[in-house]
Amino acid sequence: MRFDLVSIFPKFFDVLDLSLMGKAKESGALQIAVHDLRDWTQDRHRTVDDTPYGGGAGMVMRPDIWGKALDDVIGDTGRVVLAVPTPSGKPLLQNDVRDLARADQIVIACGRYEGIDQRVVDHYRSVPDVEVFEYSIGEYVLNGGEVAAVVLVEAISRLLDGFMGNPESLTEESFEGNVVEYPAYTRPPKWRGLEVPEVLQGGNHAAIEQWRRGKSLERTARVRPDLINKTDPSTLSIFDREVLARFGWLAPRDAARWDRVTIRPATQNDVAGIARVAEVTFPDACPPDVTVEAIREHVENNLSEAVISGWIDSPRHRVMVADFHGEIAAYAMIELFEEGEYPDDIPAELIEPAPTYVSKVYTLAKWRGSGLSGAIMEAALADAEPHAFGTQAVLGTNVHNKRARKFYRRHDFKTAGRRTFDVAGIPNEDVVMVRTLRG
Ligand code: 6GU
Repeated sequence: MRFDLVSIFPKFFDVLDLSLMGKAKESGALQIAVHDLRDWTQDRHRTVDDTPYGGGAGMVMRPDIWGKALDDVIGDTGRVVLAVPTPSGKPLLQNDVRDLARADQIVIACGRYEGIDQRVVDHYRSVPDVEVFEYSIGEYVLNGGEVAAVVLVEAISRLLDGFMGNPESLTEESFEGNVVEYPAYTRPPKWRGLEVPEVLQGGNHAAIEQWRRGKSLERTARVRPDLINKTDPSTLSIFDREVLARFGWLAPRDAARWDRVTIRPATQNDVAGIARVAEVTFPDACPPDVTVEAIREHVENNLSEAVISGWIDSPRHRVMVADFHGEIAAYAMIELFEEGEYPDDIPAELIEPAPTYVSKVYTLAKWRGSGLSGAIMEAALADAEPHAFGTQAVLGTNVHNKRARKFYRRHDFKTAGRRTFDVAGIPNEDVVMVRTLRG
């Protein structure tokens, strides 16, 4: 790659001596030449600008000077790009940078004042074998193109073969795959009271990778919603979708567009909505031999509005809802057990004392495969953790409900044993699953 930088401030590019020229010489992959535009003037004052036609503030750079300079500098070897930094150009993206890194020569024409006479760009657009690329580096105005030229040179150079010490660090960075980068940490493990996340201090590489992916998505959801909107939800893994749902982005399983959801603690205003979800989803958790009467009786006794209202008021219960445009789409309920207490429906010998009991995770069938269930469960566990007494989360789910068991396994729950779960006097076989709470 050869860069030719044309400017009335060639000294500006001395910064490249610090950061790039050394490496450029070593690697041989890069040549940078700097040119003073005034070398192509002929008058005593070396004038490069004139007043604008039509009036107005400032000066405009003359096309005749630029034309002579660019005719001399533009070569005829391989793919040649004339890059023109301007606030009215195309916003420069990593995709553009990746593409430009495959050019043979990039000439950067740095304007000052009110810009370069439009005919310069118009002319070179009509020259065969020259690509013109007008670009902006952000939504603010600089005094000239020099800073934007340095930006382009650096962004491209680091992609050239043999330039990066570790080419792998190129594949995991921000804007690769429409997500921003995960946060990085190094020693010391505790600094000013702030700790390095525990998972990074252990050697579980799969867990580390998953944590990093989650943080990338979380950051992207918070600061770059435009990047989320550019991504087709149906192309993402269920893990990715669970993370995004937790931070407000939801789509039905096969949908191509995102909608918004809010996962939040329940209030008394949600009671009727939760009761409706409870009523339609509870039957799905029962095997087919449980009668409709037994299900109805169980729902009346255990999932009534009065019971749900009681959870929301009780400090030992934590209830989360997924609020989809004012409708409840899912709910989760966790019950906290204190020292020496055990859920009366889980055999004590299977679990540790003072468990965090994931009593209910229910999602409307419409949202199966959307990530909403995982999102609301992880949100409920994260919400409960600061109030938890022990370090273990526990739950029970019907032995025949393979979908539920697979779901909990994916969320690191392991089978600890069995229990019988009573639905209106009818005993049902459940598996008991446990996992360690984590921050
Ligand atoms: Cl490329 N040039 C100037 N002068 N201002 C800018 C810019 C470029 N990108 C953002 N602001």
